[in-house]
Amino acid sequence: MENLFSLKGKVALLAGGGGDISIAVAEGFSEYGAKVLLFDNSQQHLENAKKALKSKGVEVDTWCGSITDKVFLKSMADEIENRYGTPDILFNSAGVTYRKPVSELSDEEWKNIVDINFNGVYYLLKEFGLRMCKRGSGKIIQVLSTGAYRFGANFVAYGATKAGASALIKGLAIEWAPYNIHVNGIAPTATETNFTRDYYREHPEKMEATRNNHPYKRLGTPEDYVGAAIYLASDASDFVNGEVIVVDSGKTVK
Ligand SMILES: NC(=O)c1ccc[n+]([C@@H]2O[C@H](COP(=O)([O-])OP(=O)(O)OC[C@H]3O[C@@H](n4cnc5c(N)ncnc54)[C@H](O)[C@@H]3O)[C@@H](O)[C@H]2O)c1
Repeated sequence: MENLFSLKGKVALLAGGGGDISIAVAEGFSEYGAKVLLFDNSQQHLENAKKALKSKGVEVDTWCGSITDKVFLKSMADEIENRYGTPDILFNSAGVTYRKPVSELSDEEWKNIVDINFNGVYYLLKEFGLRMCKRGSGKIIQVLSTGAYRFGANFVAYGATKAGASALIKGLAIEWAPYNIHVNGIAPTATETNFTRDYYREHPEKMEATRNNHPYKRLGTPEDYVGAAIYLASDASDFVNGEVIVVDSGKTVK
């Protein structure tokens, strides 16, 4: 029982790995024994992540490329396989949003958000999931959002892509269960990260309202998602599949 949550000897790949939630989860994975690999389409974010993790004693390997680029994903997967073997854990938190009504959303923005938050999930999970199926084990954790379950103005495209990704992982959970693959999700709530920082700085009243809408009267922090991620990555969740852990202090059930 002591080792139920251990990730010792595991290799974890984090997509959107330069992001704030990912950095906190990478530290947690490492603390529980995993070798951590990151990729992100922002070299700057990767540098920040590397620096932040190094200061905590965590050394990571990084790749720069987009979740939407199938050629990149395949070449990175080949490289990782040669160096470390197929990852045991895939944690995907790559994502974007546009906070605006559809009357202001350009077709280009619509295509971009669908490409990253939905098509990219499919490309990434297919590339690594099929390799995991071949090996006969793997834990996949997709970062969704409470926006996949509660819809609202200015988040139409975002909510649609996250709801789509939620359906996608549930289907894959069933399709890949015979190969001993686990596909689950974590749905964060409003959290102060790069994702929201500028918006909340410009609209402090919205931040206050959002905070008050949470039963614990605070926003999420990147650290709030680490426990769920370690649980879903470890043997502790071996009978959990196609599930989404909503981490929002109870906002969604209110
Ligand atoms: N912060 C919130 O309030 C919040 C709430 C609910 C859900 N989420 C979800 O959490 C996830 C992580 O967000 P975060 O808060 O850590 O934000 P973040 O902006 O710090 O992290 C997202 C990372 O994804 C990377 N990324 C974007 N497009 C990419 C692409 N095409 N290929 C590879 N990487 C790409 C970004 O460079 C960034 O480093 C996202 O999927 C987001 O939808 C965030």
